[in-house]
Amino acid sequence: MTAQIIDGKASAAQLRSRVAGHVAWLKQEHGITPGLAVVLVGDDPASEVYVRNKGRQTIEAGMNSLEHKLPTETSQADLLALIEQLNSDPDIHGVLVQLPLPSHLNGDLVLNAIDPAKDVDGFHISNVGLLGTGQNAMVPCTPLGCLMLLRSHLGDLSGLEAVVVGRSNIVGKPMAQLLLGDNCTVTIAHSRTRDLASICRRADILVAAVGRPEMIPGDWVKAGATVIDVGINRIARDGKQHLVGDVDFRSAAEVAGAITPVPGGVGPMTIACLLANTVTACCRAHR
Ligand code: GUN
Repeated sequence: MTAQIIDGKASAAQLRSRVAGHVAWLKQEHGITPGLAVVLVGDDPASEVYVRNKGRQTIEAGMNSLEHKLPTETSQADLLALIEQLNSDPDIHGVLVQLPLPSHLNGDLVLNAIDPAKDVDGFHISNVGLLGTGQNAMVPCTPLGCLMLLRSHLGDLSGLEAVVVGRSNIVGKPMAQLLLGDNCTVTIAHSRTRDLASICRRADILVAAVGRPEMIPGDWVKAGATVIDVGINRIARDGKQHLVGDVDFRSAAEVAGAITPVPGGVGPMTIACLLANTVTACCRAHR
């Protein structure tokens, strides 16, 4: 293996400790404790794990954590009423509705019901518009974490060729906006892209966010490229369960200059950025 491993776990720990310092200062100097409310509808086991981790890390950072667990059959009206209540609660600075939602609920309507100032996920249409126009947006946590890793590894990203594989609203599209904001030349590739291999091969920065285990092999990676693997896929191999990314780590690490591992790469940065966004929302609310 030649690639340097980008240690997301260590970067996330550093960010969490900066956040905790800021929270302590807000409490001591201003008597304010940032509060994050997380809403989970249904009993998707992966979502339950994420929500539990968010709650634990929120408390560890010194903030208040409020969890609302609603049954799968919750109506759209009841969910909107809860969001309204959280929007008007002055002790809550961040509101997050865990995705995916059960299919009878309208995700766009729900996300756009969150007060944009409390939208720590950055999914509200106002924040999407602010990000797209280079204004002061709440930035989605996973792409924000990826950008932090890229900046701390590469420094200035200006002029670099970036390829984002995946066009989701949660990762692919905001990731492309952030890279553009840092002066990269950006391509968004997806499942209908023709000759994906040759597009990936021109990337100085390759971000994989497709949700397909080990889809990107090492021979799609340019020598010396920085590879950010957003995928977290559970697979069974040799009779055991494994977590793997969207990139075939072994072959990619032979060619890349640097690569994020799965687990321990992008994943830990996501929750750390959520905590940072909550503190930002709190500070803006008390400005
Ligand atoms: N489900 C998977 N990733 C996310 C995320 O970043 N935010 C929310 N709310 N749900 C998710």
